[in-house]
Amino acid sequence: MTRIFSGVQPTGNLHLGNYLGAIRNWVRLQRDHESIFCVVDMHAVTVWQDPVELSKSTREVTAAFIAAGIDPETCVIFNQSAVPGHAQLAWVFNCVARMGWLNRMTQFKEKAGKHKENASVGLFAYPALMAADILLYKATHVPVGEDQKQHLELTRDVAQKFNNDYGREVFPITEPLILGEATRVMSLRDGTKKMSKSDTSDFSRINLTDDADLIAQKIRKAKTDPEPLPNDVAGLEDRPEAANLVGIYAALADKNREEVLAEAGGWAFSQFKQALTELAVETLGPMNAEMARLLEHPDEIDAILRRGAERAQAIAGPVLDEVYDTVGFLRV
Ligand code: TRP
Repeated sequence: MTRIFSGVQPTGNLHLGNYLGAIRNWVRLQRDHESIFCVVDMHAVTVWQDPVELSKSTREVTAAFIAAGIDPETCVIFNQSAVPGHAQLAWVFNCVARMGWLNRMTQFKEKAGKHKENASVGLFAYPALMAADILLYKATHVPVGEDQKQHLELTRDVAQKFNNDYGREVFPITEPLILGEATRVMSLRDGTKKMSKSDTSDFSRINLTDDADLIAQKIRKAKTDPEPLPNDVAGLEDRPEAANLVGIYAALADKNREEVLAEAGGWAFSQFKQALTELAVETLGPMNAEMARLLEHPDEIDAILRRGAERAQAIAGPVLDEVYDTVGFLRV
């Protein structure tokens, strides 16, 4: 049996990079795997979050999951803080993971920057909480992007050390699920930078909440170079903006880049951008509309999260009992 677990932080807008790089793949995975998708609000607060914005973002991410086609009947969709086992198991893992392991985490170094002394303890312990997310459900596979591979490696180390220390095979050694040619969506303003919710320019990204007009505007203003599109993929080298737009087109059309360039090679960007806009509006439009509908009905979203949390709890409860017994925590 396989069980997958993945999480998204409810911080700021979800954008095309989140959709093409992660959420869209999950929609496909749910057919073949028992799937648990979590809105990781506890990870979000490792850096300051405005409380009103956090609640809003949690509903937005949930709405995006559903609008993208994740079925809340077959999958478990919930927010992390609603299942107390995440925090409880994370504490045990704080005591399993070593300072040295966490000190090596590149994401912590990036996020803490020069002011390490001022970073929250939670930001440092973040990977132990992520290990708890995954292992609380004994997930066998985690779909991850490049940036989370090191954290998954740590999850495997935690599972191994726990099993070893206590002499019991409690946890599986979770495998990463790498999905074909990952779509790395780059900024529309700079083809060498990842599309990111923290970019100060909103024109650098297409948000899943952007309507057709805004999508069109952003694509029209996207940075390009003066040459027409090349006829093959080799011609995209050293042309990061062209490569990005072709990559986005290919992902949205479910084609590879060769196929796209076989058709669009030699086109001026103005023509290609027109085609890309039509495609983007056609594929993202229905999702955008369903998201907007759901966000007008927060009760519907909350009911899905509530039901998801109950189902998550039903899986997590026995695992946590097993951990408590293994560790010797008296349950009276
Ligand atoms: N750390 C992940 C991110 O920033 C989010 C996350 C939290 C996660 N827990 C997880 C991803 C468990 C996969 C599995 O994107």
